[in-house]
Amino acid sequence: MSVETSNIPIKNEQGSFSEVPGSYCVRDISLAEEGRRLIDWAEANMPVMMHFRKEFEKTKPFAGYRLSGCLHVTKETAVLIETFKAAGAEVYWSGCNPLSTNDAVAAALAAVGISIYAWHGNHEDFYWCIDRTLDNRPHLTLDDGCDLINTVHEKMIEYAKNDVIGGTEETTTGVHRLRSRSADGKLYYPVFAVNDAETKWDFDNVYGTGQSTLDGILRATSVMLAGKNFVVAGHGHCGAGVAKRAAGMGSNVIITEVKATAAIKGVLEGYEVKTMDEAAKIGDIFCTATGMKDIIRKHHFESMRDGAIVCNTGHYDCEINIGELEEISVKKRTIRQNCEEYTLKNGHKIYVLAEGRLVNLAAAEGHPSEVMDMSFANQFLCHVKLVESHRAGVKLPIEVIDIPVEQDEYIADLKLKTMRLSVDILTQEQIDYATNYQEGT
Ligand code: ADE
Repeated sequence: MSVETSNIPIKNEQGSFSEVPGSYCVRDISLAEEGRRLIDWAEANMPVMMHFRKEFEKTKPFAGYRLSGCLHVTKETAVLIETFKAAGAEVYWSGCNPLSTNDAVAAALAAVGISIYAWHGNHEDFYWCIDRTLDNRPHLTLDDGCDLINTVHEKMIEYAKNDVIGGTEETTTGVHRLRSRSADGKLYYPVFAVNDAETKWDFDNVYGTGQSTLDGILRATSVMLAGKNFVVAGHGHCGAGVAKRAAGMGSNVIITEVKATAAIKGVLEGYEVKTMDEAAKIGDIFCTATGMKDIIRKHHFESMRDGAIVCNTGHYDCEINIGELEEISVKKRTIRQNCEEYTLKNGHKIYVLAEGRLVNLAAAEGHPSEVMDMSFANQFLCHVKLVESHRAGVKLPIEVIDIPVEQDEYIADLKLKTMRLSVDILTQEQIDYATNYQEGT
């Protein structure tokens, strides 16, 4: 495998680092033009981000600040990166999953001077890329899955404690990891939980995951979904989105859960609820969306129907135990892109999509631009808040910080406006009715 590099910053003998904005490591820089067209397409569907770009390129709140990001390199992420750049930031970036980088987008970003270290299929040098984004000691970190924050906290403790202003975290799994780090007293700078903003999880996690996961499954298999038993492991926001869209395509949806209320919601949506032991015997397509490891393991594979399709849409590739599948398989071959066929000792064939990594990004293009518009609006505004607080000498608490309600409302209002829709406004009498215990009844 070869990747193209420019002059990568190297630590010198004095222990300081070269300042070479525009260093990069991507698969093929000649893909830049193709990538630029993809970014143009995403921009056309991300009006809130483009509004911010127009507003903040005038004031440049990030001038003098370095930001490192570790998040899927997609056309939508490129819009976020270029909005930071327009607002004055010096940006360093790596992918947050070995299979989610769009090489054309990475090339387009490298071509305009973004220090990007990412290529599709980067299993071996994944952490090396994260390290490179830290060489120039960023003031801000932006994460999806917490690998960047973990790297800073474990390899650069003094710098984490003294020099980083703050960060953000994009995803459910990452926020869980952060909260456990914080509870352990091992979080060294403030981090905003972007995932938990209403304008993020209520849209990106549900509708984004729902559409993009089905998109990934269809690109990898082209099978008919109607009439299939479609097992969704986990009926949280992401699983609920997948289940809703699979049902919409005519699948018979079966939910597996560990949480009673989530299971009841599944029943009330009209789905069947079963244990994975039961579902494994009858499922045609399995999709994990739990954030938990070992959801599908050896004895599940052994009881599956011949031809079962198995995939994951959770952040990490631990939900399907592929190691155990390999142990009980006698043959493996690639049947088509992102679709591996395993032949078991019992003769059954099982198809695993995208190596058990998030199928929506590895086999498709991730969530649509329209929904990432709101998620990334949250990312951007949290970083504006971090630098504004820093400039004003205000110290934010060193904890996992919830997104302010006003930010959620501001983003939702902007988004609605770009959709050319309006909501009603309460009259003063209605506000009094809602807020005064003496009114009503
Ligand atoms: N996560 C899910 N979809 C994404 C996308 N399109 N870009 C970046 N991160 C994502």
